[in-house]
This record gives sequence, structure tokens and C-alpha cells, in this order.
Amino acid sequence: MSYIGIAHPPLKLPGGAFPAPPVVKGGRTALAGRLAGAGCVAPFDEADELVAASGGDEGVLEQLVVRRLGGEPLAWVTGCVSFAGHRVLVHPGVYVPRRQSERLARRGVDLLPETGLALDLCTGSGAIALALGRARPRARVLASEIDARACLCAAANGVEVLAGHLADPLPADLRGHLDLVIGVVPYVPTAELVFLPRDVRDYEPVLALDGGPRGTLLLEEAVWAAAGSLHGGGWLLLEVGGDEGALLAPVLAQAGFGPPLVHRDSEGDVRGIEAQLL
Ligand SMILES: C[S@@+](CC[C@H](N)C(=O)[O-])C[C@H]1O[C@@H](n2cnc3c(N)ncnc32)[C@H](O)[C@@H]1O
Repeated sequence: MSYIGIAHPPLKLPGGAFPAPPVVKGGRTALAGRLAGAGCVAPFDEADELVAASGGDEGVLEQLVVRRLGGEPLAWVTGCVSFAGHRVLVHPGVYVPRRQSERLARRGVDLLPETGLALDLCTGSGAIALALGRARPRARVLASEIDARACLCAAANGVEVLAGHLADPLPADLRGHLDLVIGVVPYVPTAELVFLPRDVRDYEPVLALDGGPRGTLLLEEAVWAAAGSLHGGGWLLLEVGGDEGALLAPVLAQAGFGPPLVHRDSEGDVRGIEAQLL
């Protein structure tokens, strides 16, 4: 089963302790060596990103490297991440958009008409809304988010973000008119949170991850929120993990959706569902 993946190449931490290697200067190879020594699985790529983020200032670079060696997500250290071909700002404290969600975003682009109306539930940094908006510049893409830090981050990414729970902040005159509701809502079952990579557990907000006892608490609410927001024929796209696609099927039917299509990754793991409001 796979749920929310890693945000960045993990630091492997033997014995659970973060290593404290000595300061190593001497160029890209030396820097990559420090990162590799701390268990970084893509040390040269990370070294390049850190150097770019430092603006060429050796003192700043050292501060960034120390933060990364301490286990902080790379995107928080560099301030940005690449998502679906776009540079997305990621403020410290905000969920780092995952590569696995790019496919959902691209499918969202396919399903969003040129001048359509979309809502990205639980937008976090706004990565999915940004990707939709860039690909469909004549469409209107709204986003919702409950965490104030994430709202600020999404706004910094140029996303039209509405503060609040799922679709609650959607203006009344837009309800029933949306073409697409898309979302990577929190969906890790509470008991599975302990199995997430250590740096995800240590740094990323539990509010962004915890999907309740079966993982489907927010997903089920998202289905009903989408049913109240879409027009007939509109599409719902949700990232899911484990057996959540099957768990959601009856809820989708009750809420008025047609049979869901399940998205799987190359390893056969369930990654998303899409369903059309009848
Ligand atoms: C798994 S993250 C996904 C963020 C973004 N969609 C992405 O893929 O990068 C879930 C986000 O949902 C937000 N969130 C949690 N509960 C929420 C709620 N009830 N309503 C709106 N947003 C919520 C969290 O703050 C977090 O930013």
C-alpha cells in the first residue's frame, strides 16, 4: 500500500539520529559527498539546487546545507519545487507537492474546458491550481485551504485561494457551476502516519496528512462537497491510496456520481480516482 509519498529524497538516519558531518568546502563534489554521507539519495541534484538557492554566497550556502543535513525538506530550504514543469514556491511549514500528484494535475487539465471553472480542494502551496491555471489561462481556477500559512503560500504562487474547509468558502453563485473539482486532501490513515518517512513525520504538518481512522474522512467529505459544487457532467478527481478507491465507491454513488475510474501507477498501486457527476 502506498499513501502520501516522500517529499524529497529522504535522509537515511541510522539509529534515528541526524548526522552532524564536519563542514566540507571545496566544490560540488565535496558538497554532494556531505549530502550523500547524510543518506541523501540524489546528492548531486540536491547540491546543485542548494547552490542555486544560495545565490553564490558561500555563507548562505552553508546555512542551507546545515538545514538540509538536519532533515528539513529540500523545498523548504530552497524555497521552491518543480511541479508539472512549473516552479512552485513552498514556504516552510507548507506541505511539499509530490511528484506523484503531477499525473492528477495533468488529468485535471484534460478535464477542464478552456474557459471552465475549477476548484482545487486543500490546495496547500497551490501547486495543482497553478498547473491548471497555467495550462488553461482562460479558465477560472479557485482553490481552498484551511491552513493560514498555506493560504499565504498559494497566494504567493498567484493562486486565487479561499480560506476555509473544503468547498465551504465557495461563493454561493458558483455552486452547481463547476466543471472540475480536484484535490489532494489528507488521506493517510491515522494509524499509518508512523510509517511515513521520518523527515515527513518530523517536519510536515499532520493537518496535511491525517485522513482519520480509515484515511477517508476528508475524502468522503470532499465527495459531498464536489457533488454540491459541480454541474451535472462535471468531474471529480481525487488522489487516494491503499484501498480508499474501493471505500469511496459507495459514497460516490450515493452522492450522485457515475462509476469511478481508478488511476494506478506503474507498480499497480492505486493513486487516484475520477468520477463524473450524473
Ligand atoms: C496533502 S496536502 C496537499 C496540498 C496540495 N494539494 C498538494 O498536492 O501539494 C493537504 C492540504 O490540505 C489542507 N487541509 C487540511 N484539512 C483541510 C480542510 N478541512 N479544508 C481545506 N484544506 C485542508 C492542509 O493544510 C494541506 O495543505
